[in-house]
Amino acid sequence: MTRATKKPDSKWWEDGVIYQIYPLTFADGNGDGTGDLRGIIQRLDYLNDGNSEQDTSLGIDAIWLSPINNSPMVDNGYDVSDYTDICPTFGSLEDFDELLEKAHQRGIKIILDLVVNHTSNQHPWFVESSSGKDSEKADWYLWQDPLEGRDLPNNWQSYFGGTGWTHSEERGQFYYHTFNENQPDLNWHNPKVREAIYNIIRMWLERGVDGFRLDASSSYSKDPYFRDNPLKYGATDKNDYNNYHHLYDKNLPENHQIIKEIRAILDEYGDRVLIGETFIDNRLYDSLVFHGEKNNELHLPLNFEFSFSPWYPGYIQREIEKKEKLTETGNWPCYFLDNHDLPRHLSRWVECSLCVDSEAIAKASATLLLTVRGTPILYYGQELGMVDNTDIPPERLQDRAVVMSNTKETPPPRDGARTPMQWDDSPHAGFSFGKDVEAWLPVHSNYPDLNVEAALQDPDSILTFYKRLIHVRKHSEALRWGRWHTLIHYPHEELAYVRETENETVLVMINFAFEQPFVIDVPLDREAWTVLLSTVYETDKVIDLNGTLEPFEVTIVQKTR
Ligand code: NOJ
Repeated sequence: MTRATKKPDSKWWEDGVIYQIYPLTFADGNGDGTGDLRGIIQRLDYLNDGNSEQDTSLGIDAIWLSPINNSPMVDNGYDVSDYTDICPTFGSLEDFDELLEKAHQRGIKIILDLVVNHTSNQHPWFVESSSGKDSEKADWYLWQDPLEGRDLPNNWQSYFGGTGWTHSEERGQFYYHTFNENQPDLNWHNPKVREAIYNIIRMWLERGVDGFRLDASSSYSKDPYFRDNPLKYGATDKNDYNNYHHLYDKNLPENHQIIKEIRAILDEYGDRVLIGETFIDNRLYDSLVFHGEKNNELHLPLNFEFSFSPWYPGYIQREIEKKEKLTETGNWPCYFLDNHDLPRHLSRWVECSLCVDSEAIAKASATLLLTVRGTPILYYGQELGMVDNTDIPPERLQDRAVVMSNTKETPPPRDGARTPMQWDDSPHAGFSFGKDVEAWLPVHSNYPDLNVEAALQDPDSILTFYKRLIHVRKHSEALRWGRWHTLIHYPHEELAYVRETENETVLVMINFAFEQPFVIDVPLDREAWTVLLSTVYETDKVIDLNGTLEPFEVTIVQKTR
């Protein structure tokens, strides 16, 4: 395999693979049953041992940590009560510094989740703001009286179900919360709020973090007149939040100004990344607008195309083609299959596909994620083939933000996709060494067979496949930054696409179902392609593009000039 040169102007977050850790369930370093920073430090070598020439570790380049700040954990960290400290559940600032240092030694960047659309209702800012209309922070949140003749200030909903307005007895007014009532939205119109948040951003950048993932980053700004959102014509979504056009509580012009301001701060510090959750009814164009007119907003807007796709090649390809068309030159796409809010992709896709072989789907979806043009984000455990734990007893659910919202529209709890990482076949799947403790969430019952230790020994495991795929990607300039184009315009059973630079052409073929002929009707030389990775051929074998794709085959071949 050739060692591809680095594109002269490529950034680490364009070239690299990002790995999302849900700290509560990744690794427990102190044996109390809950994940923490020491646990993550102990597992860094699994993620990347710093030996980039060998595939001795998974080989990821950056970690995105779901929130680790002080929090009463109603939304498991997405409700922050102190942005300047580490939640004792996870450790201390010293532990964080050690994590940063040890990650950097291995070439791993650290990206923090920054949750600033809202705070916890236990944040001192909110406590003060609720204390009265004359308090110093009276206008740090979105306080309103009911509209004349109505019970509430307007019709804005909470994403977790029911109205987004909760009454504070103490203050005698309603406050708005996009999420749970324990998560009041900040008033971003207030320059003092912005200044306070920007100081927090600087503080972490100065501490050495490599970037942020902005939570709910299209919701910061709200209509100053608090106008009602219009109802969508004929809308019947179970979650009433989705039945409205979010004209006045999401994606307002001022939101772009805020992101620009945040980006400008990051730019002062050099090579840092700004990722944002730009979930706007899954409208791709609106999300991509968050790159900014001159790429002066988000580096990587998170859009949910693969998470909302069925496992069907025609649909998936249309999503890729849309993103290819809409991503302007100079901007860079980003893809993921899973995150902490969604059912894991094997749970979603195995049921909706013709293929009941979850290992085949795991390898095929890994290939898709790591060979399209864009930065891939992995969610912990996906590299093993972890699936949702659907057997969590109601009393063990931890998604309190959802459980407490408890309206008829409330979406299901998200715990199934957040269960402990499966490290080995010892108790708690090796996630915690604690003897008389309960793991934060019950471990999936498949852990005796599906765990890191076992998968590392198995040359055909999903984990081995991910490791090899990441290694292949690292050594292929075409896969990292080459152009993307498809060979099949209306795919029904398979995907076949090319990644290409001046020096290298890589062809990716993924068969979604039955035996298929190679359908390559473009002037590609059919002879002498070198196998980079395949579920059928040996690596480095030289093959011709004749014949058939076996059911569920994945094959990646390369030609160098
Ligand atoms: C999006 C996060 O991903 C989710 O977990 C959280 O509940 C909401 N934002 C509120 O912060």
